[in-house]
Amino acid sequence: MSLSIIVLAAGKGSRMKSSVPKVFQQVGNKKMINHVLDVALRLNPRKIITVISDELENYKKEINKSFPKVKFVTQKKRFGTAHAVKTVFQEVDFKDSNCVLILYGDTPLIEYKTIMNAINYLHKNSLDLCVLSMKPKKEDHSYGRLFFEGNKLCKIIEKTEYRKNTNDKNICNSGMMVFNTNKLNLFINKVKNLNKKKEFYLTDLVNIFYENLFNIGHYLCDYSECVGVNTMSELSVVNKLFQEKKRQYFLKRGVIMEDPLSIFFSSDTRIGKNVKIEPNVYFGKGVNIKDNVEIKSFTHLENTLISSNVTIGPFARIRDNVEIGSHSKVGNFVEIKKSKIKKGVKISHLSYIGDAQIDNESNIGAGSITCNFDGKNKNQTFIGARCFIGSNTSLIAPIKIDKESIIGAGTIVNQNIKSNSLVYRKSELIKKSKK
Ligand code: UD1
Ligand code: CA
Repeated sequence: MSLSIIVLAAGKGSRMKSSVPKVFQQVGNKKMINHVLDVALRLNPRKIITVISDELENYKKEINKSFPKVKFVTQKKRFGTAHAVKTVFQEVDFKDSNCVLILYGDTPLIEYKTIMNAINYLHKNSLDLCVLSMKPKKEDHSYGRLFFEGNKLCKIIEKTEYRKNTNDKNICNSGMMVFNTNKLNLFINKVKNLNKKKEFYLTDLVNIFYENLFNIGHYLCDYSECVGVNTMSELSVVNKLFQEKKRQYFLKRGVIMEDPLSIFFSSDTRIGKNVKIEPNVYFGKGVNIKDNVEIKSFTHLENTLISSNVTIGPFARIRDNVEIGSHSKVGNFVEIKKSKIKKGVKISHLSYIGDAQIDNESNIGAGSITCNFDGKNKNQTFIGARCFIGSNTSLIAPIKIDKESIIGAGTIVNQNIKSNSLVYRKSELIKKSKK
């Protein structure tokens, strides 16, 4: 079998009411188009062609950074899904592929296995066209509906053309289809725009193939993989479905979550063995948690590596390229940004650590701050191994506190400190009678 893939992504997305192009909206903190292209790539096709509009021209480079194999065809005027496919066939030669899979940039939850099953179904039954179909939970929706003559698929009727019909089984078009390349090439020009929207519908090919006595069928997929995104409300539905899948995935791999519904993951979240996550935790992009970690409630993590045997939170915020070494502890109301925290470090309460490195087994007292910003630049703080930074200390960066030093509570430190130092400021405590 040789396969090529066309990803349709040129739609206006006007129903989204957003200045961000629709296929760039995110599901699990990953662009919808990237979800689709990831699956496309796994299918190992000869070609992946993405149909884009003029507005997406500037995004080509960005897409190619993650997906160098993807080529683009620009659909200057958007006359519908069949017109998009026709535009591709005018520019690209598919002789090397015996079938062509159509994917939609706005249908990001489809899984590799499902597409493989549909492609196998097409081959096994020698089909010229296999529609990936699904059954929406409700009757009232905007999907195209499949109709049958006896058991044979004969047409798809779009919402705008649809009138309530007793033969309607509410089996719908996910949009995704697999075609015999030659037949698609020969018949894509036959699609007309004789409908209310005056658009060229790819779905009309079903009836055209049927009338020509080609072999057509559909492969019923799980609805949760086929939800299309046309509105912000649908985007939230798709995000919810995505979260549900991720939660089940992690539960199956042994992650302990007492209230999984309150925990949010990103598509690239990685979690090791024997990890416990308390309710209300948010995993932003780029979080990698190793084994035996406990993340307490109301913690917000982004772009962070947490090594094994670490406790985080509650109410911790860690972001922007942070590494936490094993056996360390980050406690409540601690923010850490762009920092490397080594092994066995304790930052237990109410601290801000930014642009810093803290070496093994240092202890950062409550309310200690790295003053990293001087109004113009961000400056670095270095704290050596086994230092004791007393509570309410301000370290004015750039600064280096060498190993095994003690900084007394409440000290403002604005000079580098040699190893094994004891540092405090002299300001005597005045005690007087009130009278
Ligand atoms: C389409 C299907 C419908 C199906 C639904 C599934 C048609 C006519 N209708 O409807 O049967 O149930 O998807 O979600 O195919 N696009 C282009 N160029 C265009 C128009 C659209 O590239 O000129 C792209 C869009 O970016 C999108 C996809 O094609 O990724 C589908 O277009 P959209 O307008 O969202 O179609 P639906 O109304 O959702
Ligand atoms: Ca759509």
